[in-house]
Amino acid sequence: MSKITIAIDGFSSTGKSTVAKQIAKELGYVYVDSGAMYRAITFYAMQNGFIDNNHFNIDGLVSKLQNVRVSFKFNEALGFAEVYLGNVNIEKEIRTLEVSSFVSKVATISEVRELLVQQQQKLGQNTGVVMDGRDIGTVVFPNAELKIFMTASAETRAKRRYDELIERGDKVVYEDVLRNVQERDYMDSNRKDSPLIKADDAIEIDNSNLTLQEQFEKVLQLVKITL
Ligand code: C5P
Repeated sequence: MSKITIAIDGFSSTGKSTVAKQIAKELGYVYVDSGAMYRAITFYAMQNGFIDNNHFNIDGLVSKLQNVRVSFKFNEALGFAEVYLGNVNIEKEIRTLEVSSFVSKVATISEVRELLVQQQQKLGQNTGVVMDGRDIGTVVFPNAELKIFMTASAETRAKRRYDELIERGDKVVYEDVLRNVQERDYMDSNRKDSPLIKADDAIEIDNSNLTLQEQFEKVLQLVKITL
């Protein structure tokens, strides 16, 4: 059976990656978390002094972009690929609220987007792929056979993210997580380069009241119709 490209876009913490991972596993496809790549560049910028307190040296970061090596390595035990900066696994480090608070600013930089979009297109070449992000159905794979746009209320999404962070042992306050989700929604939707918008041919799923299993089944059904 021929393989297709599945693009899953949507606002922060809509649970895109959970469903995308399950679908990729079910179909034997590659899963790519494009947000992890923007987070990895943000982490690099923080580590290398380009983001310091609230000062952001965009030109400095852009001048070093060609040296930044972001890659994925499949973790057999977990069943999905983890993100690396050079040879270092940074899967945990990129999920902090601190990285979340800068990542949408980094994602406004056209040079960053250009570099990552190229890499994302390569990762999805010649194979079945499920990729989640903000511009996958509009910019990275405008010809994707199946495009899904996930939504849920900001409060539902913040609660999910808050629970995840607490579960990992991070000390966070719900109101800060909600503010971060709302700020990222705003920045992602209003940036000049590749803003978050639903592709005309994307199918919208509001998962505020859906269980993970229900979301999985819904997407799988759409895949079956598309194949
Ligand atoms: O998906 P995740 O929440 O990890 O993404 C982090 C941030 O990376 C988003 O808020 C957005 O600013 C940026 N992003 C993007 N384009 C993508 C994926 C993520 O601009 N395709």
